[in-house]
Amino acid sequence: MDRIRISGGAKLNGTIPISGAKNAALPLMIASLLTDDTLTLENVPHLADVELLIRILGNHGVDYSVNGRRENQEKGYSRTIHFTAHTIVDTTAPYELVSKMRASFWVIGPLLARMRQARVSLPGGCAIGTRPVDLFIDGLRALGANIDIESGYVVAKAPKGLVGNRFTFPKVSVGATHVLVMAASLAKGETVLENAACEPEIVNLADCLNLMGARITGAGTPTIRIQGVDSLSGARHRVIPDRIETGTYAMAVAMTGGDVLLEGARSDLLETALDVVRRTGAEVTQINSGIRVTRNGNGIAPVDVTTEPFPGFPTDLQAQFMGLMTMAKGRSRITETIFENRFMHVQELVRLGAKISLSGQTAIVEGVPQLKGAPVMATDLRASVSLVIAGLAAEGQTEVNRVYHLDRGFERLEEKLSGCGAVIERVSV
Ligand code: EPZ
Repeated sequence: MDRIRISGGAKLNGTIPISGAKNAALPLMIASLLTDDTLTLENVPHLADVELLIRILGNHGVDYSVNGRRENQEKGYSRTIHFTAHTIVDTTAPYELVSKMRASFWVIGPLLARMRQARVSLPGGCAIGTRPVDLFIDGLRALGANIDIESGYVVAKAPKGLVGNRFTFPKVSVGATHVLVMAASLAKGETVLENAACEPEIVNLADCLNLMGARITGAGTPTIRIQGVDSLSGARHRVIPDRIETGTYAMAVAMTGGDVLLEGARSDLLETALDVVRRTGAEVTQINSGIRVTRNGNGIAPVDVTTEPFPGFPTDLQAQFMGLMTMAKGRSRITETIFENRFMHVQELVRLGAKISLSGQTAIVEGVPQLKGAPVMATDLRASVSLVIAGLAAEGQTEVNRVYHLDRGFERLEEKLSGCGAVIERVSV
């Protein structure tokens, strides 16, 4: 199993190209199930989660081909991929696949809308919390689906097709919003979704569906209106830059000091997080080619944050920000409100010399002058990368184990960081 080995202390200077967003690419790929035509997606990141979803979609009958010419070819980054679900051969998503990646549960929306039936395994728990699917079930029932749970599977049927309706999410959910927007696109009549997620990935999906012939307005606000259409066609659409990767590298620069251009990054996708990075003492500027982050000043100022749905501070940057706060000049409080178990990185950061105590859903971080390298491991993607950030600033050597978590969501992490002067390598053991 591979490890990432880091010799800390180097400042980051240079350019980091920002990849297409994993969490935008996954629902867009799933949207290919809605049409028998070809959906072409540009800027799809080369990640383990994307490869796994290609396999899962293949199981339903989706063919794919990768463009001969890659995006940003000289560096081998994100690709253009064509997806064609000409014939859906299977409406079952089996446990063996769904349990590996929760987002694959989302196939339930397009399968039900197009094929009028779907049998999708319950995803089960995961490292960051219980993550139930009640909102998906209630929402699809509101569109007229009959849903039963049978032997660990959600069995959904709508023999006469889905019918538009008004549905208010009792809690904001990114995944359930994606699914209901996709399902309602092929329902009869109008659907109004209230308290919908406003994340940029929802807007990216709705823009793509509209190119495919859907009639969606209001994406990016809490109220989304969808006029159902009979069928959708193919389209060509671009995945937005990854705001979580952007924020992660911005925090890495704020941690080590230096001057880095995050090429292709868009500050409008993560204003709140970038403001927080500014308050820690870094300079963050949007320029034509991306976002420039510099820190040359007097160390890291402590800042309190609370995770919230978009446009608030994202839970997917909470672990990385905690990494940064471990070396702040003072105390910070980090409160997690989205997932109940997303502090798995705390004990590992403590192994690097951080001083962190937990009080319910709040972590209290007392900044220390210097972290010290150590072997560490993490149980999820964002937690793993927080350890990388901490390792970049720690004195001595840090080894991050279980690199497969990083490969799920960070394209060529060690190449991007070493290109900016970090001493970081992947070692096979
Ligand atoms: C998406 O997950 C992201 N995943 C997550 O990123 C991200 O952390 C999360 O949104 C929040 O921003 C993808 O886009 C692939 P939710 P999702 O439904 O859609 C509860 C990463 O690291 N809930 O918005 O699964 C749920 O338990 C990942 O890239 C219900 O109670 O998240 C959570 O507490 C991790 N019932 C809250 O809602 C439901 O039916 C928000 O979850 C559904 C969700």
